[in-house]
Amino acid sequence: MTTPSPYRPGTDDTAPAPPPGCPAHGRGPGGAHRLYGPEAEDLAAVYERMRAEHGAVAPALLHDDLPVWAVLGHAENLRMVRNSSHFTRDSRHWRAVQDGSAGPDHPLAPVFTWQPMCSFVEGAEHRRLRGAVTGAMATIDHRGVRRHINRFSQRLVNEFCEDGRADLVSRFAEHLPMMVMCQVIGMPEEYDERMVQAARDMIQGTETAIASNAHVMAALTRLVRRRRERPVEDFTSALITHESRLSDEEVAQHLRLVLIASYEATANLIANVLRMVLTDPRFRAQLNGGRMTVPEAVEQSLWDEPPFSAMVGYFATQDTELGGKHIRAGDGLILGIAPGNVDPAVRPDPEAPMQGNRAHLAFSGGPHECPGQDLGRAIADTGVDALFMRLPDVELAVPEGELRWRSSVLSRHLVELPVQFAPRPPQEPAGQAVTVPAPRGNWEVSSLTANSAANSAPTAATSAPVPASEPAPEPAATAPATAPGAARHAQSERRGGLGRRLLRWWRGQGR
Ligand code: HEM
Repeated sequence: MTTPSPYRPGTDDTAPAPPPGCPAHGRGPGGAHRLYGPEAEDLAAVYERMRAEHGAVAPALLHDDLPVWAVLGHAENLRMVRNSSHFTRDSRHWRAVQDGSAGPDHPLAPVFTWQPMCSFVEGAEHRRLRGAVTGAMATIDHRGVRRHINRFSQRLVNEFCEDGRADLVSRFAEHLPMMVMCQVIGMPEEYDERMVQAARDMIQGTETAIASNAHVMAALTRLVRRRRERPVEDFTSALITHESRLSDEEVAQHLRLVLIASYEATANLIANVLRMVLTDPRFRAQLNGGRMTVPEAVEQSLWDEPPFSAMVGYFATQDTELGGKHIRAGDGLILGIAPGNVDPAVRPDPEAPMQGNRAHLAFSGGPHECPGQDLGRAIADTGVDALFMRLPDVELAVPEGELRWRSSVLSRHLVELPVQFAPRPPQEPAGQAVTVPAPRGNWEVSSLTANSAANSAPTAATSAPVPASEPAPEPAATAPATAPGAARHAQSERRGGLGRRLLRWWRGQGR
């Protein structure tokens, strides 16, 4: 049943905005809430007001007061993403694009401007392009990738471990995914600070975005040319040789998609998980119980702070109904990941832990569901593991209330995560002291129970490198399984506090 709404994203309602101080402040034409600007600083609160007023699907305004529907309900988001005959990712269906109100100068143009990539097409063309991406992903050597993640984490920690303090956003979270992805796609030599800056910049709609995009595309085009001439065993070669027969341009565009999709989301995820472990009282309570593992912390974070808060968007291909609202062909809809994740219909108690439940919307669903989710999880959980193993006494260097966030309708992320720890020497050069983490049974990171965590602890402990002041370990295959971990454990027990609890938690030991 469709409830008539006084407001329709499709209409040209030009009612003036209320003056500041008016109870309707923060709203635009038609009384819809703005999802941008000063009124939207606390977007979570805005979404809750919208839910209270309109239910699971609410009218909203993007920059320049562009009307859209914000999908707030968990079930309604899933209904939308699973029904590609009614709701498409192809932004050329959006009335605002057709009438020019969502033009190339719009601040969100980098995310909605149509491009010939799998994220903007449906049906057979989607299957062709996405098939190449998922086919290439299937060739990734999972154990090898975990080894790289661990080694790169060690390299990053080496760069600041002598200082006793660091900002984990700019020194760790923002670098690890780019290092890993440059390695995965086959251009490790291109990883540098400029590549990290460019990836961040090119989707922001800033003045330098075009130059940054050109920098990234130049590196990718060089890579595609090299691999077309001489394929090797890597992601890019698999993309090139896939039966979908992608053109060089399509290969480069999909490499760019993979690089951007993985860089920003995974950096946000790592920062959020680190913050959660360092600050969240719920999490510390779990730590004391010795029950929550890093993969479970990652999953909890995907519920509470999804790396992408929303996607812009989905577009109605025909008149239809969603959440009781009449949606007209050409209307734009926002995939409300963050509001969907806290929908009281699925989380009556938002404080209750979601252990073992992976039904969050962080990776969306339906035909466009993120194909890189297991790699994103692996980078986050292996990286966070490695960091806490190296710095078990790490703690926040500022009161939690002083942490600053940057948010937009698309994402909310930490600006900095300043931490302190006892200074310690760097490790052996990467690749020598770092041993291969034992593979998990499956590429998908599974949530461990307290028991299975305890069982896997000795192997996990051997995967971590040993401080240079301790004897260097033998390779994993021959090293005594418990020695390095035992040394670290003793060291940590001396330090006490959060460090000790973290180590116990890592090992799955209760208290
Ligand atoms: C924690 C990290 C990540 C998060 C939270 C995330 C989230 C998402 C979301 C929400 C979408 C949009 C789905 C839709 O349109 O409905 C998406 C699409 C996509 N992601 Fe991820 N992603 C992550 C990591 C990665 C990684 C590591 C890769 C590649 C290695 C990747 C590759 C892609 C691709 C290719 C698409 C487009 C799929 C399609 O349209 O068919 N993502 N991701």
